[in-house]
Parts: sequence; structure tokens; C-alpha cells
Amino acid sequence: MKQKIPDIVQKAYRAALATRKLAHAPYSKFKVGAALITKKGEIITGCNVENASYGGTVCAERTAILKAVSEGEKNFAQVVVVTDAKEPATPCAFCLQVMAEFLKPNAKIWVGDLKQIRHSYTFAELLPHPFGPDQLKDARLTKTEKD
Ligand code: THU
Repeated sequence: MKQKIPDIVQKAYRAALATRKLAHAPYSKFKVGAALITKKGEIITGCNVENASYGGTVCAERTAILKAVSEGEKNFAQVVVVTDAKEPATPCAFCLQVMAEFLKPNAKIWVGDLKQIRHSYTFAELLPHPFGPDQLKDARLTKTEKD
């Protein structure tokens, strides 16, 4: 990574790394840690929580977002994701859709391995055309069919 990594991002990386250890991943064995950096500079973490009914699994990023929102915080500026994948993993499409609700297109998503942060993307690079409230609004205005 050539780019200078801000101190707050390094702090969030360490928090995500520690939280990754708490992941409940007995099925995939793939542990993920995430940390949200709020606009106020607070850090909220999450890990993946798997379920024997596999579809009940919640990713680390969504765990962090649900924790944050349920505690009254939804202004997220940046996200850090940590895995042990050789090529650092980016958030899955479910998580990107949930992030679309709260992140600005230029918000940074940092991805790292167990040693360090390896790369950063803007949210728009990962999800350039998110589905959002605008589409819902248009649907209501153009609705002419009977239910
Ligand atoms: N996982 C995450 O926590 N975040 C992602 O963005 C991708 C996948 C988790 C879900 C599951 O527990 C494991 O990684 C394997 O898919």
C-alpha cells in the first residue's frame, strides 16, 4: 500500500483484527472482522456469525452496521474489513447493499489481511449503481396497475 493510512484507520484495523477472533465460523472456518469509523471518529466492530441453517449467517460488516444502527449511530465515513484471504476480501454483495443505505459513494472501504491493510476502494468502485430509495419513489409514481 503506497498511500499513507490515517491513524484512525489503523486503529479501526486493529479493532477489526481483534474482533475477527470472536467470529463464530465453525462451518466455513472463514473468520471476518469489520470496523466502521463514524463521522465523529468512533469505531464500531462486528464479526461474522454463522448458523447451522447456513442462510441464517450474518457477515461481519452487517453485524457491525446492525450493532451501530441499533445503538443510534448511522453516520459512517469509512469501513475496514479483515480476513486471512491471500487476496484481501471485499464485502459481499449483500453487505454492499446494506452499506448503500448509509455510505456516500466516496466513502473508503479498506481491506486487509492479518498483517496489515492492503488496499482501499471507494464505495462507488465496489457498488457503482446501488439500488436505493430513488428507485422506490419512481416505482410509486408510475404505478398504474391494480394490486
Ligand atoms: N463473510 C463476511 O463476514 N463478510 C463478507 O463480506 C463475505 C463473507 C462471511 C460469511 C460467512 O460466515 C463466511 O464469511 C464465508 O462466506
